[in-house]
Amino acid sequence: MTHPALPGHPHIAYRGDALFIEDVRVDDLAQAHGTPLFVYSQASMQAALAAYQRGFAGRKLQVCYAMKANSSLAVLQFFARQGCGFDIVSGGELERVVAAGGDVRKVIFSGVGKTRAEMLQALQAGILCFNVESEAELEVLSEVATASGHTAPVSIRVNPNVDPKTHPYISTGLKGNKFGVAHERTLAVYQRAAALPGLQVVGIDFHIGSQITEATPYLDATDRLLDLVQEIEAAGIPIHHIDFGGGLGINYNGDTPPTADALWMQLLAKIDARGYGDRQFMIEPGRSLVGNAGLCVAEVLYLKPGEEKNFCIIDAAMNDLPRPAMYQAFHGIVPLQQAGDAAAPVYDVVGPVCESGDWIGRDRALAVQPGDRLAVLSAGAYCMSMSSNYNTRGRAAEVLVDGPRAHLIRERETAQDTFQGERLL
Ligand code: LLP
Repeated sequence: MTHPALPGHPHIAYRGDALFIEDVRVDDLAQAHGTPLFVYSQASMQAALAAYQRGFAGRKLQVCYAMKANSSLAVLQFFARQGCGFDIVSGGELERVVAAGGDVRKVIFSGVGKTRAEMLQALQAGILCFNVESEAELEVLSEVATASGHTAPVSIRVNPNVDPKTHPYISTGLKGNKFGVAHERTLAVYQRAAALPGLQVVGIDFHIGSQITEATPYLDATDRLLDLVQEIEAAGIPIHHIDFGGGLGINYNGDTPPTADALWMQLLAKIDARGYGDRQFMIEPGRSLVGNAGLCVAEVLYLKPGEEKNFCIIDAAMNDLPRPAMYQAFHGIVPLQQAGDAAAPVYDVVGPVCESGDWIGRDRALAVQPGDRLAVLSAGAYCMSMSSNYNTRGRAAEVLVDGPRAHLIRERETAQDTFQGERLL
């Protein structure tokens, strides 16, 4: 018997009435480890990475997983073993790469606010490239490198001014954003970089936004980037690698982004036509590698009927799953045990945190009772990594499933853990 996977979640399916992730019954994990509990499918992460590798077959490609999407050590370890490098945005993330056994020589360092200390840390570690986001940063990086006897490999992040057609908080490639160097300034900035003593120009990059569900913004940005490569090289500055950032969306709620291989076959056709097909390429995918590999299991605590709304109060909250509160994001919510023909009233699914913004899903038809468990879907990306201890709630535990095996990869945080390091007067 085959078990149709949930839409967008290739390794999550009901077998009979019970929800499985790969070959493990999700409820067994909740019973063993408690809730809220994040569960990830290794096969899903593998399949998502393979789609990129298919798209780039025969090309020179370095995948740098944008670890902000999910920086749990075992997740990093998995991607490191697959040959991935990492896109980092802090010295802390660099330490995580090292702790997970990743290769620092495949690390690129993005972000608009790198400190001198972080620059020095990354230079000493010997990272692959700094993705520089401003002219001021370029000057400081050169100073830090010169003073410490290093040469910093740099790429300039170009802001191509294209609209990725996504939520304004996660769109980054428009003129009004804080990210990257304006297209018109780019050549001048490369000339400055080439003249500074502590720097070596190695690449060029863009990242236009996140949860992008169309190919057009990538095609437009690529055209504009290749115009710049031509201009910069004509000025005598060779560009060794081209980095296209991340941003490819996933299916949260019937979204239909292109698959990674289809997108890249389309993009590479353009890149070939312009004569750049044999370059060293880099990409920085985050969400598309992990988002739909994960779910968050929660228990129904109370049902609270109301005049205008019914509330289904669960034990996961905005501190575990911040995306609905922050971006009005949609996450699918399904029961671990399907209830047959039972009536399914409509609820707002909310957490215990003392904020009206603490909602996880609105207007969901659910046939559940207190004590039942639910899975919040598409929870592999930007959930655990954005979680907090608000309301002194310890962070959830995490399990990574590989076929029939389940590995506990993060213990549940205790209240004591959350105030460790604090001092009384
Ligand atoms: N590269 C850079 C420079 C980035 O800033 C990001 C994400 C990525 C790559 C990876 O993008 P992805 O492939 O994951 O779309 N917290 C938001 C998403 C913020 C994305 C920030 N930058 C959310 O939950 O939707």
